[in-house]
Formats: sequence, structure tokens, C-alpha cells
Amino acid sequence: MSEQLLRYERLANELGGLISSGTLRPGDRLPSVRRLSDERRLSASTVVQALRQLEDRGLVEARPQSGFFVRHGGITRPEPSARTTLESAVQVDVTQRLVRILQTSSRPGMAPLAAALPSPSLLPVAALHRLYAGVARRHPKLLEGGSHINMDEPALVRQLVRRSLSWGGPLAAEEIIITNSCTEALALSLRAVTQPGDTVAVESPGYYLMLQLLESLGLQALEIPTDPRTGISIEALELASRQGKVAACLLVANASNPLGCLMPDENKRRLAKMAAERGFAVIEDDLYGDLHFGEQRPWPIKAFDTAGNVILCASFSKSLSPSLRLGFMAAGKYKAKIALQKTIMSGGTNPITQNVLAEYLESGAYERHIRTLRRTYERQVASMQDAVSRYFPAATRFSQPQGGFVLWVELPEEIDTALLYEKAIAVGVAFVPGELFSPSGMYRNCLRLNCGNPHSAEIEDAVRRLGRLIAGVVS
Ligand SMILES: Cc1ncc(COP(=O)(O)O)c(C=O)c1O
Repeated sequence: MSEQLLRYERLANELGGLISSGTLRPGDRLPSVRRLSDERRLSASTVVQALRQLEDRGLVEARPQSGFFVRHGGITRPEPSARTTLESAVQVDVTQRLVRILQTSSRPGMAPLAAALPSPSLLPVAALHRLYAGVARRHPKLLEGGSHINMDEPALVRQLVRRSLSWGGPLAAEEIIITNSCTEALALSLRAVTQPGDTVAVESPGYYLMLQLLESLGLQALEIPTDPRTGISIEALELASRQGKVAACLLVANASNPLGCLMPDENKRRLAKMAAERGFAVIEDDLYGDLHFGEQRPWPIKAFDTAGNVILCASFSKSLSPSLRLGFMAAGKYKAKIALQKTIMSGGTNPITQNVLAEYLESGAYERHIRTLRRTYERQVASMQDAVSRYFPAATRFSQPQGGFVLWVELPEEIDTALLYEKAIAVGVAFVPGELFSPSGMYRNCLRLNCGNPHSAEIEDAVRRLGRLIAGVVS
């Protein structure tokens, strides 16, 4: 027994040494179990034990059906730096800059590294087509006038409640509102809990669409330092809220955009408690909650909310199709106010789509689909990290997303990614410059890459071209 222990430990130490010396680099595949077993004259179980030990030490990761690979976890590539200082609230002004990116990045032939959109090849489009046809045939009255008004489809609400059963306490059916996408849910929430001129605390870096919403509603943004692994700083939020300035906190706790960070449960609990004590609303965007890379579906902050201050918003845009425009919210104590806003703003949500989704969820197909999709996104993110390691300058840092499918990249200080963007689109590659993730224009040397597409030769080539442009600036 002790002999065997020594053997697998010896192999683990040997491979670990090759990793820390850089002989085996992030993204490299380790020799297969069979090869190591043949070459070292060890049993397969001893080799597997050694590999598992390396996995526990965070040095390698197993990828389904592909073997073991050297991880990117801070061995040779540190993660992006975390900001620690609290800035003042600022007026938001991102729309002008964003319009240019949105227009140019979707030009035909442009490599799709900008918008956070999944490849259609990963989505169950055929199944959805069938369901649309079936629902329209079986429920002809759904298209009769007026059937949409304030009609949150009970079957869909039931499915949403059912899916939340494992969150320590299910959502209450009465607080659910079905929306046209997550964006509508976020906009309705902000309208309900703020007045123009109010301050909203946001993650920094944080998702630009949220910043646009603040801009359009005349709200100030207070950038809260956000750790690439553990998310928004609870201490900084505490400080800001103690000064009484925060009307709401708008954030993505599970696999944020752009960092992919995951708030620990303890921080979620503290935030829910703080919001209740200080009387501000938490608007939680849980769009990526189902797309986690860890074993367990992370709980939303909503699971820790006892006072009704947390509004959960989500949609199926990243898991089923962005074109469904189907989202929902659990509105807590703001339910009545938001339901009224919803009626005023859009009158309801397409009843056919609601029924399609209810049937898809009820059949169990959704759970099967996201089980595969999560692993696919994880693999695509890992491939993008490998490509960035290969083609970007050695001082580049990048995030270790805990879910979703975007990668945040920090380049050497001298690179201005807004200028780089102009050169990149000229060679057919789009990305989102870092400054769009900050209302005060921070992160000029950062960029976000979409990993929503299978890592094809075209994607690899686009990253290579980008790397070459960056090298031209650095040298
Ligand atoms: C964090 C986050 N929230 C909301 C959205 C938009 O979601 P929807 O298409 O459902 O409006 C996105 C899309 O990229 C996102 O990343």
C-alpha cells in the first residue's frame, strides 16, 4: 500500500515539476493513462491516482473524452489584477462608443469574438421549431387578441419554480413575472427601484448593457471593485452603502460578464443581509447561473433573501436562443410595482413562446441540453485560453471563468484596445474593448473575447491575427 502511495506520488511530483518549470505549458495535453502506464510500468490505477492528485493541486484538469490538460490557474499566467479603490459615482456615457462596436463587429465575414453570442450550432433550434409548430396547432386560441395581457403562463411559472427547488428554498410563484428577455427584466427592475439621479452600484468591470440602461434612465454608476474570482467587493459595497448613497446594486453573481467570477455563498448571504438592513435593492442578473462549470448549480443571491429586497432576473438567451427573447424575474417585494410597469411598457410576453418554453422544460430536454452545453462552453473557453497563451505577449493575463463563455484579457499597459480595435476590424477580427466595461473608462488595456463558437481553424486564426497586431504595438 505504502509502496503504491509512493509510486503515484512520485509520478505526480515528477509531472508537477514539469508543469512548474514550464516544460509542460498551460493547455498542453498530458500523455494518456495507457501511455504513462506502459512507459513507467505502473498500473493504470496508479497513474489515474497521480493525475487526480495533480487535479486536486489545481495543476491539471480532466476534459471529457480528451484526457488531462495543464490548467491555466495562475501557474505561468496570473489572473487579471483586481481593483481595490472605491471611485466616485459618475454619469454614464457608453452608448456612443458602443454603437460603433455593435455596427462594425457584426459585419459579414468578421470573426465573431465580440458579442457574447452562442453559435447556432450549439442551440436546440430544430426542437424549438417543432415545439412552436405543435403549440400553435394545439392552442389556436393563443393568437386570439388579448390572450397575452398580463398572462404569465401558469405552466411556465410552475416549471420555473420547480427548477429553483434546489436553491435552498424555491421561488414563490406569486413573485414571478415573465418578460421579453433579461434586458427587459433589468430595465423594469431599475425603473421600479430608482429615480433619475440616483446612484446604482455596479461591478467593475461590468457588463456594458447594464451601463447603457443606467445611462438611458439618467442614473449614476458607482463602480465597485470586483475580484476576478470572487466577484464584487462586499467591503467596498458596505462602505458605499454606509454613506447612504446606493439606491440599488446591479450585478451578476454567477459567472459575471466579463470576468466569469463566482461570488462565494457567504458573500451572497452578506449582500442580501446588507441590502435588507440598509434598505437598498439588489438587482441580480442570473443569466449565466445554469451555465456553471463546477459540479453544483450555484445558488443565486435570491436564495439568501429573506426581506424581499433581491430581484432575480434571467433569460434563456445564452442557453436556448437569444432570439426567443424570453426571460423572467422574481421580483420580491417590488412585484406589484414591476407588474404595473410591465403592463405599461410592453403589455405582456408572447404566449406561444411561453408555452414552447414550458413544454421544453417539462419534457426534461432543457436539463439534458444544458448538461452538454456547459461542458461545451467550458471546452471552448479553455481552447480560447490556449490560443491566447500561444499568440498574445507573455505578460498577458486572462480570467479563469467559472461559467458562461466570455474571456477577459488584460494586455500590457501600453496597449490601448480602443485603438487596437480599429486595426483589428481592418483585418476581420472583432472583440469588445475593455473601456466599455467601465463608466469611467478604465480597462483601456483589456478586452473581452466571445468563446460562444466551436474553436475552429478560423477562430484560431483570428486570435493569431489579433496577437500579431498586439505584438506590433508592444515591440
Ligand atoms: C450579463 C448579461 N445580462 C443580460 C444579457 C442580455 O440578455 P437578453 O438577451 O436575455 O436580453 C447579456 C447578454 O450578453 C448578458 O451578458
